[in-house]
Amino acid sequence: MQVVETIAGMRQVRKQLSGPVGFVATMGCLHEGHLSLVRKARAENPSVVVSIFVNPAQFGPTEDFASYPRDLPRDLALLEKEDVDIVFAPSVAEMYPPGFNCWIAVAKITDRLEGASRPGHFRGVATVVNKLFDIIQPDVAYFGQKDAQQVLVIRKMVADLNMDIKIIALPTVRESDGLAVSSRNAYLNDKERKAAPVLYRALCLARKLWERGEKDAERIRQRMWEVIEEEPLATVDYVSIADPETLEEMDGIRTPALVSLAVRIGRTRLIDNVVVG
Ligand code: PAJ
Repeated sequence: MQVVETIAGMRQVRKQLSGPVGFVATMGCLHEGHLSLVRKARAENPSVVVSIFVNPAQFGPTEDFASYPRDLPRDLALLEKEDVDIVFAPSVAEMYPPGFNCWIAVAKITDRLEGASRPGHFRGVATVVNKLFDIIQPDVAYFGQKDAQQVLVIRKMVADLNMDIKIIALPTVRESDGLAVSSRNAYLNDKERKAAPVLYRALCLARKLWERGEKDAERIRQRMWEVIEEEPLATVDYVSIADPETLEEMDGIRTPALVSLAVRIGRTRLIDNVVVG
């Protein structure tokens, strides 16, 4: 496994890779969710590139860029075990040199959900993924359905900018109690960790109500909201039942529907989703 820190170096080693090249973009602090993407990329491609870059452009001014967990030696050891060919781990200055001032903005679908709660977030995501795609030139890129809106934003960018890259979304990896695996789970103390599965319980409730014939989306949102508010450490940011393509909120449930939520557990903001139907 080769670790490359410069863009010029990455372009150089890319020329020697036999294709197709599978790519997984990460912000490091790797966990089973990331590794599920890496394993799929490994199984499906002769060459695998993984990037590790905590992207300042996708964090708001009051968000956790500075405290975001980082452990490069541990990450590299994990990726070595997965038989990854190249790890691209650039510095912030390498990706955003002084004077950098060019952005990719995907309109409309970014006005909702995470985009509404985190202004500028998806501009940062689309910009860095665009740069990574350009530098790494993958044939296939793997993303987690855990960040469902992110997958939509990337697909839209790839389609509208005519990028010749196949985007594959893979299912959310969960802990045994249903909590979606996430780097930010590391922020939770013991009490908060016990409270955190309330997100998945609310999503399961939505699915159950839908299966029992409830067709009024607002009633389901209300029931989810109630379940979460019963948990004293939890504060709802949003609960959504939306069209999985346009992200428009539904009145009556049509299928498929993307049920998603963002909830603060103590000071840690967690997101999760399921698709029903
Ligand atoms: P990060 O949060 O590190 O996630 C990297 C990839 O792992 C994303 O595609 C994400 O959806 C996926 N992932 C995270 N948790 C998962 C889980 N429990 N199950 C399955 N997949 C999971 O997402 C980002 O980084 C950044 O926005 C990035 C795309 C790297 C751009 O900076």
